[in-house]
Amino acid sequence: MTLQTKESWGSRVGLVLAMAGNAVGLGNFLRFPVQAIQNGGGAFIIPYFVCFLLMGIPLLWIEWASGRFGGKWGHHSTPFILDSMDKRTFWKYIGVFGIFTNLAVAAYYCYLESWTLSYMYHSLAGSFMGESAETVSKFFIDYVSLVHGYEPVFFWLLCLVLNTYILSRGLSGGVEKAAKVGMPLLILFGILLAIKGITLKAGSEGAVYDGVTGLNFLWTPDFSTIWTPKVWLAAAGQIFFTLSVGMGSIQCYASYVRSKDDIALNAMSAGWMNEFVEVVLGSSILIPISIGYLGIDTVIEMTKNGGLGLGFRTLPYLFTQWGPLLSALAGFAWFCLLFFAGITSSLAMGTPCMGFMQDEFGWSRTKSAWSFGAAILVLGLPTVLFFNHGVFDEYDYWAGTVSLVVFALFETILFAWVFGIDKGWHEINQGSDIKIPVFFKYVIKYVTPVFLGAVFIGSLPDLARKITDVSNPYVVGARLLLLGVFLGVSYLVYIAYKKRLKEGRFVS
Ligand code: PHE
Repeated sequence: MTLQTKESWGSRVGLVLAMAGNAVGLGNFLRFPVQAIQNGGGAFIIPYFVCFLLMGIPLLWIEWASGRFGGKWGHHSTPFILDSMDKRTFWKYIGVFGIFTNLAVAAYYCYLESWTLSYMYHSLAGSFMGESAETVSKFFIDYVSLVHGYEPVFFWLLCLVLNTYILSRGLSGGVEKAAKVGMPLLILFGILLAIKGITLKAGSEGAVYDGVTGLNFLWTPDFSTIWTPKVWLAAAGQIFFTLSVGMGSIQCYASYVRSKDDIALNAMSAGWMNEFVEVVLGSSILIPISIGYLGIDTVIEMTKNGGLGLGFRTLPYLFTQWGPLLSALAGFAWFCLLFFAGITSSLAMGTPCMGFMQDEFGWSRTKSAWSFGAAILVLGLPTVLFFNHGVFDEYDYWAGTVSLVVFALFETILFAWVFGIDKGWHEINQGSDIKIPVFFKYVIKYVTPVFLGAVFIGSLPDLARKITDVSNPYVVGARLLLLGVFLGVSYLVYIAYKKRLKEGRFVS
């Protein structure tokens, strides 16, 4: 048996913070507000919570339980975690998603993350002081078009090196430490900015509307458009992305949890911490401040075609309305918060890839970490160089949206129907510090798979439209590259499997 017990979490608090750090990411502060705005504010929140309850929470338990189960046999990546649950070859290759997605999402995510470093620097240096709204907005457009020379490349490389270095320090020595420093600071900065955002008064500091105008837009339920499929798909997509489910990274973190330790409560603590950060803090900064200054219509207009840039295009300018000192502090706090949110998530994308190389090919932690860094460098480069040609968005669509749903659907079927819900329920509850209502057993068995199936079918028309559109060569290139990565990882899984057979390393 190749039980790898060397690597594990240092403490329960560390584990929960690392898992929360995994979930709390740029998705909470940049993606959630924009999704909410694009999908009608109050019309978005109800589907969002329904998706959280019927898909998000069950998937958290499924993934924590599968991960801890696979970890018992020394597996730390989804191909062999799924294999430990059912021996049919099919599942190993479904497990490829859990490595592929992490590589592909990390490739564009690290670039986004690196913008925050640059903006932290520019906020402190006062680069935005005295500039017009247009200039500040254009600064961002120019930044991603590489008009400012290679500064973006510099910050991107810095960001990659930071990630790789922390990963090479291991779980308790690197990832857990980053989460213990990053998460509390993020929450502190988030609370300060949220208070400032909500208490914004119309007529003072150049604001046109009160901060609560934006909050009302978001929190006034709008039942008239609640049955729009587009809004449900967006809500489901956001739940996936924000909780990091359907990725393989939760399974990997959970595979380092000791088999007797609780997962039911830990999963809830990390999941709810993510929701607090998303719906309380995430909705109280970007939305109230942008709407307070610009009004609802302008902000909706600005998020029409994509909108991840909103937090970079508007906030630095709006902060300058608060005077030089406060503007530098607020800018620094906002981008530092985003950086911590980002890095604790990108670290989570590295661990499944590293776990796979360590388990299957006996690589050292350092070698696995630097190889992951190198892979992200190669895969990420097109998103940096051809950002304006839609490469970044293409990665986000296939890896950050479609793959998550596909993988989540299959792993739920495996867990509830192949592994079996009785065994699965037992796994979830073993060592548990809470009593989960048995209602969820039925949700996991019936509701979650049906819901996931519906989301998948609902997204097919869009998928068909995307895949048949071959008008942009950069986008087609990106797609082929991603396909190549998927096939490459599948091949590695194939070799690993052969190797195991030869060495008689079959466990579970
Ligand atoms: N949940 C992270 C966010 O909200 C993104 C993420 C996806 C992190 C997948 C890890 C794995 O930004």
